Amino acid sequence: MSDKPKIDEISGVETTGHSWDGIEELNTPLPKWWVWTFVVSVIWSLGYVILMPAWPFPGANGWEYTKGLLGYSQRVKVTDQIAANEAALNVYRDQIAAQPIEAVQNNDELFQVALASGKSLFGDNCAPCHGSGAQGALGFPNLNDDDWLWGGTLEDIQVTISHGIRWDDDDETRINDMPAFIKDEILTPEEGSAVVEFVLQISDQNHDAAKAAAGATVFADQCAMCHGEGGEGMTMMGAPDLTDAIWLYGGDRDTIMESITNGRRGQMPAWSGRLTEGDIKELAIYVHSLGGGE
Ligand code: HEC
Ligand code: HEC
Repeated sequence: MSDKPKIDEISGVETTGHSWDGIEELNTPLPKWWVWTFVVSVIWSLGYVILMPAWPFPGANGWEYTKGLLGYSQRVKVTDQIAANEAALNVYRDQIAAQPIEAVQNNDELFQVALASGKSLFGDNCAPCHGSGAQGALGFPNLNDDDWLWGGTLEDIQVTISHGIRWDDDDETRINDMPAFIKDEILTPEEGSAVVEFVLQISDQNHDAAKAAAGATVFADQCAMCHGEGGEGMTMMGAPDLTDAIWLYGGDRDTIMESITNGRRGQMPAWSGRLTEGDIKELAIYVHSLGGGE
């Protein structure tokens, strides 16, 4: 060990003066490019810490962080973007609310907005009863098919949604019940059983032909006024088609008997007080688009 720097003979580079068992350590300087990159990084990081959000620290309400002089925040940025989109959508929504429903349907841009909003409104308000795909369930009609209880035009659907079905709180609600023929003794059990066989016949199911023939008379007297002479249904009455394979409550012998015995009175809420005019238009356009719109 000596005090003044030694020069390594082979490389001509200064040594650190450390030596282990005769092996000496060269004091090679760091490359200039490395030193400058390091200095620039330090300056950059200082600037970054001052300008941008950086250090977390425990605050009064949990973790906080240094906000930085620029006030940059991704969360604020996203919130701003959402607000901007919302504002752009509201321009369309206002137009949808202001225009007649046919005009909305015929305007490509408004139609697309109505479909998208209608779909999300449907998920929030209607899916619990009609299913998320509007496929329906027992007692809750499928809205995808072209089989309508109360009519499948845009206007019919709009009225149904606005005022509901057998909804006592709405003066313009759709009314007309399926009577409780046997319970209220309008028909004897024999007449009832005969007309059930007739319904099985017109819906192409196994039936007792002799009873069905008797049931045809009962049907003409008691049922045709609502369900139509051939049982094809009447949307003005909300009376379903009894000839097809689509059933609201069920098309087997026992379930038809139950419909006739105790009647039916499916209820659908009125939405006019709960949703805006525009919302209801969007929903009607969405439901109408599902495939069965007339
Ligand atoms: C509480 C359950 C319930 C909710 C919620 C509900 N519906 Fe209904 N909806 C029904 C029932 C039950 C019927 C059938 C009523 C009947 O027997 O005539 C019906 C019938 C309908 C019909 C008539 C179908 C036809 O064949 O004529 C339309 C259209 C409809 N609903 C749309 C909607 C829309 C859109 C919403 C959401 C805003 C909605 N419903 C929310 C229960 C509901
Ligand atoms: C005053 C009108 C009216 C008369 C008369 C009437 N119905 Fe109905 N019927 C309806 C309505 C409305 C419904 C649907 C009820 C509902 O949506 O909850 C219905 C439903 C039914 C259903 C259930 C259909 C399904 O899809 O599950 C059957 C079956 C039926 N009626 C058979 C008959 C028979 C048979 C008669 C004659 C004995 C008859 N109806 C007389 C109005 C009537």
